[in-house]
Amino acid sequence: MRNLSITEWAAPIVWHDSYDQSVLEKYYAHRNITVGLTVFAVGRYLQYYLGRFLLSADKFFMTDQRVIIYIMTDNFSRIPWVSLNRHHTFKVFQIKQEKRWQDVSMMRMKTIGEHIVDHIQHEVDFLFCMDVDQVFRNRYGVETLGESVAQLHSFWYQEYPDLFPYERNASSEADIPRGQGDFYYHAAVFGGTPAQVLRIVRECAKGIMNDKKNNFEAVRHDESHLNKYFFLHKPTNISSPEYCRASPLGRPSCIKSVRLSWNFKNYELLRGKQ
Ligand SMILES: *[C@@H]1O[C@H](CO)[C@@H](O)[C@H](O)[C@H]1NC(C)=O
Ligand SMILES: *[C@@H]1O[C@H](CO)[C@@H](O)[C@H](O)[C@H]1NC(C)=O
Ligand SMILES: *[C@@H]1O[C@H](CO)[C@@H](O)[C@H](O)[C@H]1NC(C)=O
Ligand SMILES: *[C@@H]1O[C@H](CO)[C@@H](O)[C@H](O)[C@H]1NC(C)=O
Ligand SMILES: *[C@@H]1O[C@H](CO)[C@@H](O)[C@H](O)[C@H]1NC(C)=O
Repeated sequence: MRNLSITEWAAPIVWHDSYDQSVLEKYYAHRNITVGLTVFAVGRYLQYYLGRFLLSADKFFMTDQRVIIYIMTDNFSRIPWVSLNRHHTFKVFQIKQEKRWQDVSMMRMKTIGEHIVDHIQHEVDFLFCMDVDQVFRNRYGVETLGESVAQLHSFWYQEYPDLFPYERNASSEADIPRGQGDFYYHAAVFGGTPAQVLRIVRECAKGIMNDKKNNFEAVRHDESHLNKYFFLHKPTNISSPEYCRASPLGRPSCIKSVRLSWNFKNYELLRGKQ
């Protein structure tokens, strides 16, 4: 078994029992921080997922901090009306429509970078970027903050790197050869300080564009490039799979408190009740 409490480069991996909440709360009580959260709500994802994502974020995400949720959408008129708690606000931005979901997720890197430069860097101290097809289930707090934050993918956190679905073709910029690599990170959640997130998204966007020029698309799209980035520039803080649980089947005993479920199926809406 790998040691999943701290990495070889001494980055802590946060689990439900790895931190002292009262100490952290005291520390941040005097810091007056603002946490940003970007989310892309386009096409069907907007109507199926955004409402639940926002309501659950309001209930569980950084509840005692000031939060700005940046919603990037291709259709303003479909943004649901939700009223948020007094610390939380959201801002809506129009983005251009992409035909393929792969392009949405790859263009996301470029768009986040533009918004950080334009305004986000002046508005928040920390920034998370998340997929919209998720729902918060439990307190997701300041214990997750750090300079550069990566999320362990809940399918592969117990595996060794040769089994990871990294891009393995040397003609891709995302290539991580066998025998190398640390963890497989989930692109559904990443974050850090705005300056650090800007570096992450710029490097990923550059890798994606260079691959495109060579007519190459990495096996797991933007996630392959994100993994390459974190392989070259180790994250300072890592979230355990409790902070983004992807598997619907069973629950290993180490996972005690699921904070966020990924690829949550909004059955009511998918089944057309409204
Ligand atoms: C993992 O590493 C930490 C810090 O070095 C140590 O305290 C802990 O006992 C280790 N856990 C396991 C299961 O080896
Ligand atoms: C906290 O930060 C906000 C926005 O950054 C600012 O408007 C406010 O005055 C600050 N409050 C204190 C007590 O420093
Ligand atoms: C945006 O949503 C509205 C309301 O559902 C719909 O009438 C309109 O056609 C949509 N626009 C685009 C460009 O999809
Ligand atoms: C790598 O990708 C290139 C371009 O798509 C392809 O021609 C080559 O066969 C691939 N190499 C391997 C080992 O799959
Ligand atoms: C983030 O990681 C750094 C070390 O890389 C550590 O000092 C800091 O306490 C971590 N942040 C949290 C909130 O645990």
